[in-house]
This record gives sequence, C-alpha cells and structure tokens, in this order.
Amino acid sequence: MKTNRLRLPVILILCLIAQFSFGQTGARATEKFNSGWRFNPGDSPKAKDASFNDASWRQLDLPHDWSIEGKFSKNNPAGIGGGALPGGIGWYRKNFTVAASDQQKNIFIDFDGVYCNSEVWINGHYLGKRPNGYISFRYDLTPFIAFGKQNVISVKVDNSQQPNSRWYSGSGIYRNVWLVKTRKVYVDNWGTYITTPKVSAQSATVNINITVRKKSVAKVPVVVSTIIYDPQGKVVAKSDNTSAGSDSSVTAQSFEIASPELWNTDHPKLYKAVSQLKSGNQVLDSYSTTFGIRSFEFDADRGFFLNGKPFKILGVCDHHDLGCLGAAVNTRALERQLEILKEMGCNGIRTSHNPPAPELLDLCDKMGFIVMDEAFDMWKQQKNKFDYHLAWDKWHVRDLEDQLKRDRNHPSVFIWSIGNEIPEQYSKNDTSGRNIARELASIVRKFDNRPITSACNEPNPDNNIIVSGALDLIGYNYHHQDYASFHERFPGKKFIATESTSALETRGFYDMPSDSIRRWPIKWDEEFKGGNQEQMVSAYDNVSAPWGSTHEETWKVMKKHPFLSGMYIWTGFDYIGEPTPYSWPSRSSYFGIIDLAGFPKDVYYMYQSEWTNKPVLHIFPHWNWPAGKVVDVWAYYNNADEVELFLNGKSLGVKKKTGDDLHIQWRVNFEPGTLKAISRKDGKIVLEREIHTAGKASSINLTADRKTISADGEDLSFVTVNIVDERGNLVPDADNLVTFKIKGDAKIAGVDNGLQTSMEPFKANDRKAFNGKCLAVIQSGKTPGKVTLVASSVGLPDAELVIDLK
Ligand code: GAL
Repeated sequence: MKTNRLRLPVILILCLIAQFSFGQTGARATEKFNSGWRFNPGDSPKAKDASFNDASWRQLDLPHDWSIEGKFSKNNPAGIGGGALPGGIGWYRKNFTVAASDQQKNIFIDFDGVYCNSEVWINGHYLGKRPNGYISFRYDLTPFIAFGKQNVISVKVDNSQQPNSRWYSGSGIYRNVWLVKTRKVYVDNWGTYITTPKVSAQSATVNINITVRKKSVAKVPVVVSTIIYDPQGKVVAKSDNTSAGSDSSVTAQSFEIASPELWNTDHPKLYKAVSQLKSGNQVLDSYSTTFGIRSFEFDADRGFFLNGKPFKILGVCDHHDLGCLGAAVNTRALERQLEILKEMGCNGIRTSHNPPAPELLDLCDKMGFIVMDEAFDMWKQQKNKFDYHLAWDKWHVRDLEDQLKRDRNHPSVFIWSIGNEIPEQYSKNDTSGRNIARELASIVRKFDNRPITSACNEPNPDNNIIVSGALDLIGYNYHHQDYASFHERFPGKKFIATESTSALETRGFYDMPSDSIRRWPIKWDEEFKGGNQEQMVSAYDNVSAPWGSTHEETWKVMKKHPFLSGMYIWTGFDYIGEPTPYSWPSRSSYFGIIDLAGFPKDVYYMYQSEWTNKPVLHIFPHWNWPAGKVVDVWAYYNNADEVELFLNGKSLGVKKKTGDDLHIQWRVNFEPGTLKAISRKDGKIVLEREIHTAGKASSINLTADRKTISADGEDLSFVTVNIVDERGNLVPDADNLVTFKIKGDAKIAGVDNGLQTSMEPFKANDRKAFNGKCLAVIQSGKTPGKVTLVASSVGLPDAELVIDLK
C-alpha cells in the first residue's frame, strides 16, 4: 500500500517531465517497429481478433521474407519465372503498448512495403487493404489505441495467387515498419516538397512546401519555421516564420543559398531542411528533409547535362531481391550492391519495375546515382494472370501519387518511369494506352516536374504511349541497332535507353570459341537440345537474348553518340527468377554483370576499363584445361597502349585495341603453368597480371568485406570463401561443400554461390562452392565482442575468421 501511494505521484511527475521535454525537443518520435513479431504461415482468419492466442507462433524480427526460407520446386505456383520458391498466405501479429502519457498524440504505423495484398487490423478493427506489394503506406492507429494498455496489430499477407510477378517477389512484411507519434498539429506524411528551380555556382533558390495537418485542432495558430543546414551541418538559411492556416494547409517558403555545394555523382553533397511547427515557444513538430542542389537537363541533340556539364548515364536495372537474403530489405546489403557497382564506374540505377525500398534511394542520394524511379510493370492489361492489373482500376492513382510524394525529395531521382513494356503500347485497334499514359503523366505533373518516360520495347512513332505525347524522354528498351537513327524516327526528341543488352553469363564458366556471337532461341535450341545439364552460359561476352545484344555491342553505339543520354543495362546483379532462356532446374537469372552472390563476372571489368580512370587489366579464363585444348584468352584493359601475353615465360605476342575494340584476344594452345599479361604505356609497365594452373584444393580462404560491424542486430559482413590450392590459387572448378559455424553473437543470414541451378537452400549453414567460390553472410547480434566464423570442408583444414561487433 505504502509503496503504491508513493509510486503514483512519482509516475505523474515523470509523465509531466516526459511531456514537457517531448514538447521542447523531440516533438515527434519515429521508432522502428520491427522487433518482437509473431508469424504463422497459412491462413488464420481469427488472428485478426484482439483476443486471439498466438503464443505458439514463431517469433521473429522484421523485415521478413518467408519465401526465401522455402524449398525450390518446379511445382511452386510462382514458376521458375518467380524463382520457384513458395508463396502462400501468412499472418503476422505484434503486441505493444503505448504509454498513457501519449493519449494526446497521434499514433501512426508506416509500412515501407508488404508483398502483397496486405490487410491490417488493430485490436480487431480493420484498417484496410493494400494490394500493391511495393508501395509504402500508413495507417492512423490513434482512434483504436488503448493507451497504457496492451494493443495488438494483425497483418494478413496474401501471396497465394501466383504468378503475379515476372521475377521473384518474396512474401511477407519484407521492408521496415515504423511507429510514428506526433502531436495533434504535425507535418503530414511525406509532408514536405523541396525544389531547386534556380541553380548556379553562385547561388541556388530552394523552395519548400510544408503540409501541416491539424486534425481536430484546426484553429490552433502555428508558426512554421525552417532551418537549412549545409553538408557540413552548418546553418546556411532560416525561413521567416509563416502561419499555417487550416487542416492540410500548405506553407511555402523560399531561400537563397550562396555558393551552393552541388550534388553530383562523385560528390553527392546533401543539405538538410528542418521544419518546425511552433505554438509560442513550444515546438509541436520537427520534420527533417534531406535534399540536394543540382541542375540537370536532357537535350535532344547533346544528351544529358548535370550541373551544366555533359554527363553520360551509365546505369543498370536491378530487381529488389538481395540474393540469398531474399526480398527482406537490409541497408548494408543494398549498400554493398551499390559499392560494387560504383567500383565498376556505374552511376545510375533503374528501380525495375516498381517503387524501391526507401533505403535504396537514401543510399543513392548519399553515394551518387542517377535514379530512374519506375512505377509499374503493367497497367490494365495483364502480363501474368494474378498481377497488378487486377488492382489497376481501384489503386493506380493512389499508388502512383504515394510513390511520387514519398520519393520526390531525393536528389538521386532524375526520371519518373510510368511503366515498363506496357502491353497497351502495341495495339492499333485498342488505343486505350494513350489515355492511360496521359492520365499517369498528369498525376506525375501534379506532384513534380522531373522528366517522364516509359520503357518501350517497340519504340516506334505509332507506339500508343509515344503517340500520347505524355513522354518527355523516348524510352528505348533494346533496339541498339536503331539508336543512331533515332532522330529519323523522332526528330527533335530526347532519348534514354531505359533498358539495354540482356546478355547472359555464368561466372567462371567458359565455352569456346569465344568470338561467335550466339543469340537464342535459334542456336540455343540446337546447342542445348535435350537439356544442357550444366545450364551455364559462357562468361565470354558472346551470348545474348535475341532482342538484346552483347555488352560490347550496345556500349559501342552508346559511347559513340553524344545525343544518347545514357542507358540502364539489364541487369547489374543476377536476380532470383527469370532464368530465361533455360527452364527448370534454373531458377535465377543469367543477365547480371555480377552474380547473385555478388561476385563480378568477367564483363564487369570491361565496364570498369571503360567507365573509370583507374588502371584495369583483367585476363581470363582460368588456366586449368585439358592438355592440347585451344583456349581463347581475353583481356580488358585501359590506360595503356598495348598488352603482351606470356605463357610460361614465352611471349604470345603484343596486342592492342584498334577501332572500337573493347577487348583483345589470343588463341592459345594450352599448357599448364603461368599465364602472364603486362600492359604498357609509352613502353612503361602499367599493370601485370598472372593466372596459374591450380593444383588440387588444399585450403579454405576466407575474406570479409568488413571485419568490424555494428552490434545492432542488422549489420552484415559478407564473407567470400575461396577454395585454393597449396600456393593460394583459386581452384576454378572446386565444388567442395563448406560448412559454417559461428562462435559469438551473430548468425548466418544466408549462403550462396551464384549458381543459377543450385537447389541448395539460401538459409542454411552450408554451401557448395561453385567454380571455386561461395559466400556466407554474417549478421550481427546485439552484444559487442568478437565473433568467429569457422568454415570446414571434408579433407581440408578448418579456416577461421574473426569479426568484431562494435
Ligand atoms: C525485358 C523486360 C525485363 C526482363 C528482360 C529480360 O524485356 O523489361 O523485365 O524481362 O526483358 O531480357
């Protein structure tokens, strides 16, 4: 009794202090709402009820993708196009409390993306449904929250009707979830819009529109003030305070910034605008928006300009999966992909064919990529039986608007794509696509003025989408043969290659001769009739889709004409699903410049030699062949006049690129030993490279991309496993099964080896090497300290690697 009596006033005082400090400082609270969920596969209709007992359900933290945990089967309804992994229905529940002291606040739940057809309940009250699995959305929980008591959120996810996608989608709450608390007066969701209409080296105009919500307290007078911080965190401008009017009113402010630090892909300088809503001295809300200052222009004759300078967009298309992690978003995994691409000289990303995770755009802002942000892979007409066409009529306006509001402040976003290879583009009789294109463009224009394109695989003047006049940029998918004559078909129009190439390679697999370009299906069928058991494609750049080209073919044209503003190659990374042209047991794509595990294929170095200034000399293939085999040796190089190749010390001749060559080649009679290449400029050695015939596997070599990671339960260390001989040479055909053990607070988040036909699960503690390599992804726990990864394989000594969690 005594203690209780004492406790009450103490709690009251604490609440008052909390209330006061909440008003003074963090006026809004945004917390990750990812931990402590329960999950149950299959349908559990009663799980929407508050009283439902979920004690037996699996406990997990989001983001979560249940498909990636499943087994490959050709009978899974997604088909190989969808990665041959299971879909189905799943339910999630989370119990939580909101303090009684929050009673005067609004409580929102923000989902960054749920695949798909999510339905959400709070304490048994239905909040709504969102069919689109790639869109971010918010529900207002305020009216249904029991403050100071237990609440439960229930989410049904229905990915049972498949195929609904042409690639691997993943299933579940696969992006982050947030709980947002605001006062009754607050900045709306995605409530700021920043533009920089005038930019020069001397000054920039920064305009910001702030949407203020006042809900039930519309009459409270508030003052809106914004402070602009430069990339070093220094205050460079402040707004005059402006009163906002009624609920949902927009306050416009404008600033002049002297000598702005411009955003570009080498120096992606970011500014921050902090907008505060105040009543007297009390801060009611504080809302931060990151933005960049840059100018750009697409010109019909001269191509793309960034901050007044000519700039070629050297981009890639990517799907959203993160290889063995599946669709479950992880910021470090995204960052690693972008780092690998940046190293190659890539400067652009197309979010094919849907709105991306918000973290991807944050990273593109920070790391410097020119993003084409895409909305749809189809409109009203289907590509697959259960795809988004089913939701089109009811949802497309809302989905597109939400994407625009969410993404338009990102300085990395330069182009809006309203669709990829939309079926409505073709028909002569049904011209409905023209009106839809105009409607979508008018939605974009309501929210932003960046250029609009659509990825057209029939880029002719009678294409309905082009006829509509809705496009600022004529988007070419493929047709590199027609690039040069673009202006004959489209006089005065601006060009972008929304998608190119679709060449195929399997890392570390070489088929000779290397100089005969093969396009399937014609040759392919002959060659692989009855099934090529290996289902691998030569890693020489000589195989492509019939609608596409080799990497070299498209790049040669793109490079030649300044009016071609740039391209997005299909694809940067291999992705799960779409193993075209193979059928089962292939279950992931061959199109990547980098394989699914994140290991570059050889052609990566062709781009690096062309797109960067760092010296490159890359020779391939490996040097383990049967005696007497005639082997094609290719080299990609730059910053040099010539390359000389030696086999066991004997010169095989000097070669140099002539004309528009992008590689050089020797045809060599194999003998075991050392192949050595030397590149020279003005007679001086630039680089030397050696490849040795490898002996038998003798040890496991582990290298981590980062040996110190955060002890935050999310960070990752990507560990490359190489099977090497006793002199440390990669054994190019090694397929040893490697088993992993972890000591310390971490787990194995996934394993892979990049082989498109592997039936081994991605969530496992072991993996076979493929062509000498595999990958283990280590995810930190929350206890700082050392983590040891032990890798074992029969007949080889154990290898160990230590990672620090900090
Ligand atoms: C394109 C399509 C992509 C992918 C690619 C494979 O036509 O836009 O999504 O399917 O083909 O080559």
